[in-house]
Amino acid sequence: MDILFNKETNSFHLFNDLVSYQLSIKDDKYVSHVYWGKAIGGNNAHIDFPLYDRAFSASPHGAKLQNFSMNTLLQEYPGHNNGDYRESALEVTYPDKTFSTQLEYQSHSIINGKPELEGLPHTYINEKSEAKTLKLVLKDTLDYCTIDLYYTIYADYPVVTRSVRVTNNGELPIELNKLLSMSVDFDHSSFDCVQLPGAWGRERDLVRHPIHRGVHKIDSKRGTTSHTYQPFLGLVDPDTTEHTGDVYGFHFVYSGEFLANCEVNEYNQTRVQMGISPEHFKWELNPAETFSSPEVVMSYTDNGLNQFSQDLHSFYQTHLIRGKYQFEERPVLLNNWEGTYFDFTEEKLLDMADKAVDLGVELFVLDDGWFGKRDDDKTSLGDWVVYDKKLPNGLKSLAEKIKAKGLRFGLWFEPEMISEDSDLFRTHPEWVLKANDRSASLGRNQFILDYTQKEVRDYIKERMRAVLNEVPIDYIKWDFNRNMTEIGSQHPSVNDGEVTHRYMLGLYDLLEELTTAYPDILWESCSGGGGRYDPGMLYYMPQTWTSDNTDAVARLEIQTGTSLVLPISSMGSHVSAVPNHQVNRMTSLDMRGDVAMAGNLGYELDPTLLSDSEREKVQEQIVFYKENRKLIQYGSFFRLKSPFDQSSETAWLFVNKDKSEALVFNYLILDKTNMVNTRVKLKGLAPEKRYKLNGQDTLYYGSELMNKGLYIEPPLSDEIEQSSYQVNGDFRSTKIKIKEVIG
Ligand code: GLA
Repeated sequence: MDILFNKETNSFHLFNDLVSYQLSIKDDKYVSHVYWGKAIGGNNAHIDFPLYDRAFSASPHGAKLQNFSMNTLLQEYPGHNNGDYRESALEVTYPDKTFSTQLEYQSHSIINGKPELEGLPHTYINEKSEAKTLKLVLKDTLDYCTIDLYYTIYADYPVVTRSVRVTNNGELPIELNKLLSMSVDFDHSSFDCVQLPGAWGRERDLVRHPIHRGVHKIDSKRGTTSHTYQPFLGLVDPDTTEHTGDVYGFHFVYSGEFLANCEVNEYNQTRVQMGISPEHFKWELNPAETFSSPEVVMSYTDNGLNQFSQDLHSFYQTHLIRGKYQFEERPVLLNNWEGTYFDFTEEKLLDMADKAVDLGVELFVLDDGWFGKRDDDKTSLGDWVVYDKKLPNGLKSLAEKIKAKGLRFGLWFEPEMISEDSDLFRTHPEWVLKANDRSASLGRNQFILDYTQKEVRDYIKERMRAVLNEVPIDYIKWDFNRNMTEIGSQHPSVNDGEVTHRYMLGLYDLLEELTTAYPDILWESCSGGGGRYDPGMLYYMPQTWTSDNTDAVARLEIQTGTSLVLPISSMGSHVSAVPNHQVNRMTSLDMRGDVAMAGNLGYELDPTLLSDSEREKVQEQIVFYKENRKLIQYGSFFRLKSPFDQSSETAWLFVNKDKSEALVFNYLILDKTNMVNTRVKLKGLAPEKRYKLNGQDTLYYGSELMNKGLYIEPPLSDEIEQSSYQVNGDFRSTKIKIKEVIG
C-alpha cells in the first residue's frame, strides 16, 4: 500500500495489492478523477480523458481554452453554480449572499495512518502501517473557506474511505447548505445500480436495475437512516454476478439523514455522491470554525457481489466494530418480547428463565415493559425506574435470580424517546424534539427527546447509569421506535437546520460515553427491528436486531439482503412461535432454527409452552449452534442460491479461515410436484483438501464439491404424516457440515 505523488503530472496514485485510485490536479487547480478499479502499476495518473469543445458547456478560461468545461471534467469534489450542471457536492451561501463555488487545489500532504474523525463513527486503524491518508487542501476562489478532502487507503482491503472538512477562513459566518462526504465521476454509464430499499418488517430487499439518464436518488428525511433505504449504493457491471465482475460499493458510516445520488449526464458520464441529506440541513459556520462530514467507505472488487460482501464483512469486523465482543462468540439468548409482550410478572420471567437454562440458552433478555407504568406502548418512556407492580422485588433482585441460574441478564431501553404520558414529559415538555410552536406528530404514541440539548442527554445518562450501577447487566438492547417529524429544537440556541446532525452528534457522544463506561456490556441496537442497522451504529454496538419480522421465509430475503453489506456477526436472528406473529405463517421448527442459526441465534417465544419434542429439538439446535457459531459468525459467507431469484430455494455457506470446516444451509420454501433436482456448487473450499460430509464415510475433494457440486435433498418434513414421492412438505431445510479429513 502506498500513496504516490507525481510532480510532473501533478497526480496521485493510492494503491494496494487489490485496488488503485488515481486523481490529478488539472491546470494546477481542478481536482480531477482519473481511475478507480483493480490495482494497476506505475505512477502515471495523468488525465487522459479527451476534452472537446462541447456546445452549451461554458469554459472558465473563455476563448483561450474553449474545450475545457467544468461540465465535462471528471471531478472529485464539484462545487456549485460554476458551469457544471451536474449535482454539486457542496453548496455554500457566502456573507455577500452569493452562492457560486469553484474549488481550487492549494496543497496536499500524505499522512501515515489515518487521522481521527472526532465525534463521529469511523473506520479505524490499530497501527499506522495499516493505512495511509491523502489530504488535499482546496479553497474557494474568493478564499472564504478551506475544504480538506481526506482519502484513506487501507493496506489489506480494497477500500478507500473519504470524508471532508470545511473551515471558515473569513471574518463573517457562512452558511453550509449542502456538504456531501464524497463525489466521484466515471467516464461511462454502463452500470447496474444495486441498492437495499425496505420497510418495517421487510428490510433490505436486494434490488438491481440499470442506471439511466437523470438523477437516481435514495435518501432519508426521517432523522435516522430508517428501514426505507440502507445508506448504501452499488454500481456493478451489467454482467456482474455473485462471483464475477466489477462492483463499486459506497456505504455511509452515519445513522442520520443521508443522500446517495447516481447521475448520468448528457455525455454518459456517471456521478456518484454520498453524504448528509441537504433536505433539512443548513449549518452556520462561524469564523475559524470547522465542520467535519461523516465518512464514506468505498470498496471495489472485480470478483462479484459475494466477494464484495466478504470484503466489507471482514473490513467492518476488523476496522469498525470495537470492544470486548469484536471477535467474541455471541451468546444464544432468550428474549421475552414475543413470548409475553407487556404482560409478565417476576414469577413468569423466572419460569421462562428456568426453561431457558434447560434449553441451553446463555442470556436472558427482558424487553419492553419493565419500567414506569408500562402496560402498553402509550406510556412511561423516559421514566427509567422499575415498574413495581410487575417486579415488586426490583430489577436487581430479578437479575440476581436469573444470574444464579447460570444465565446472563440483558435489558431493553429506548433512551431517545419520551411518552406524552410520563413524569418526564409532565416535567419537561420542552425536551421534546419539535419545531418550536408547531405541534409534534406522535409515532407509536411517543415523541423523540431533543438530543441536541446536553441537559437532556445528561438526564438520560444519569437514569441509565443509576440502573446499570445497581443491576448486574450483561447486555443492552437500545431501541428507537419512530422516525423524526417537524424537525426542530425548542431550545433557542439551536438552529433548526442543524438539528438532525446535532442530534446525531449528541447521540454518538452519549453512546461513546456509555459504551466506554460499561465495556463488558454487549450492546445491541434496534429500531423497530432493522431501521437503524448501519455502519454508524456498528461502531458503538457490535450487533443489531435485524428485523421485527421473525418469519423464517421472510427472513431468508431479509438476511440475504442484509448480508450484502453487513457482517453476519452483527445480525440478530431469533426463532419465534408459530403461527408467526408478523405474517401468521406456519413453518417447521427445523427451518426456523436453521434460518436463525445463520446469524446470532436467539429465541423469542415462551419456552414454557414448548412440547417435549420441541424442547428436544431446540436443545439440539443450540448444541449444534454452539459447536458451529464461530464458523458462522466469523467465517466467510457465501450466497449460493438467492431467495430473490424467484426460486423456492435458498442456500447459504460458511467456510472458516483455513478452509478446514464449512457448513451449508439449504432451505426449501414450497415443495413442487415431481421436483427437479439441481446441483449446488460449493465455494471457498481448498480444491486439494479432502472432506467428509456430516461425518459420513465418503471422501470428496474440495474441487469436486466446488466444480461438480452436490445434490442436496431436503429431509422429509416431520409434519407430514405420509410422504408421497410427489410432494414431501413445505418449509424444509438441511444442514451439511463439511470437515477436512487429514491423513
Ligand atoms: C421494537 C423492537 C422489538 C421490541 C419492541 C418493544 O419494535 O424492534 O423487538 O423490542 O420494540 O416495544
